[in-house]
Amino acid sequence: MPETAPNTTAAPAPAATLAPAKIEVRGLSKRFGTNRVLEGLDLDVPAGRSLVVIGGSGTGKSVLIKSILGIVKPDAGSIRVDGTELVGAPRRTLDEARKKFGMLFQGAALFDSLPVWENVAFGLLARRLVDRRTARERAIATLAKVGLGPEAADLYPAELSGGMQKRVGLARAIAAEPEILFFDEPTTGLDPIMADVINELVRRLVRELGATALSITHDMASVRKIADRVAMLYGGKIIWEGPVERLDDSGNPFVDQFVHGRAEGPIRVGIQRIG
Ligand SMILES: Nc1ncnc2c1ncn2[C@@H]1O[C@H](COP(=O)(O)OP(=O)(O)O)[C@@H](O)[C@H]1O
Ligand SMILES: [Mg+2]
Repeated sequence: MPETAPNTTAAPAPAATLAPAKIEVRGLSKRFGTNRVLEGLDLDVPAGRSLVVIGGSGTGKSVLIKSILGIVKPDAGSIRVDGTELVGAPRRTLDEARKKFGMLFQGAALFDSLPVWENVAFGLLARRLVDRRTARERAIATLAKVGLGPEAADLYPAELSGGMQKRVGLARAIAAEPEILFFDEPTTGLDPIMADVINELVRRLVRELGATALSITHDMASVRKIADRVAMLYGGKIIWEGPVERLDDSGNPFVDQFVHGRAEGPIRVGIQRIG
């Protein structure tokens, strides 16, 4: 079966030979006012794999992740995690599903008023899974996994460099050893060397946890480093999905244009007036 569906609105070819889908998105639609962002999006994230969604700025990558997390309410469609429907599900079902999730937000999004260790242990403390002492120990052990020593534990986010903030964000995402990790633009705002360090970390953490990962990025270096599979979002849909090895050979003109960063091609880039 071909991997590609160029210029069509068809769903991506199901990854039949892969593990069952950990996350299954069908017909997902979301608009804000007249701005139709997602229009019947289909996506499978296979268990234990790292899937990266690529696409230009403003194409709805963050809206997709936020819909899965339950932060954005879809207008239509289905989102299943381990077979359980989350769209329109009761609070308790959502809370159960969220226990499986770890999230690194774009820009790390740390709590400025909390020291590093409390940021890392935030989910554990909020859910009262452990007492404060244990939480602090867990936080320090988790910081070690992202290459930060115990001296970082009592610093405040404002005292950290951008790269260290990302590491703390990563530590927070993995602290409760989630089954599913979400990474929103993990390398944005970092210099290329720090970006590479973070990419390596993402890769290693996913492997060590045996987690399923759904990341979004427009950084092609990051895609090549962290993805097993890649899906491209354009026009509110996933227009191509395939293994990362096929990225340069996708046969899809939209993917080609994006991967090679060309101004010319089927992707229409709106030029907005400044001011
Ligand atoms: N809460 C919101 N209210 C209104 N518009 C939003 C909201 N969140 C996202 N959008 C719009 O949805 C589109 C996609 O945004 P986003 O998912 O953040 O893009 P990206 O692919 O860069 O992550 C953009 O046009 C953005 O302005
Ligand atoms: Mg985004």
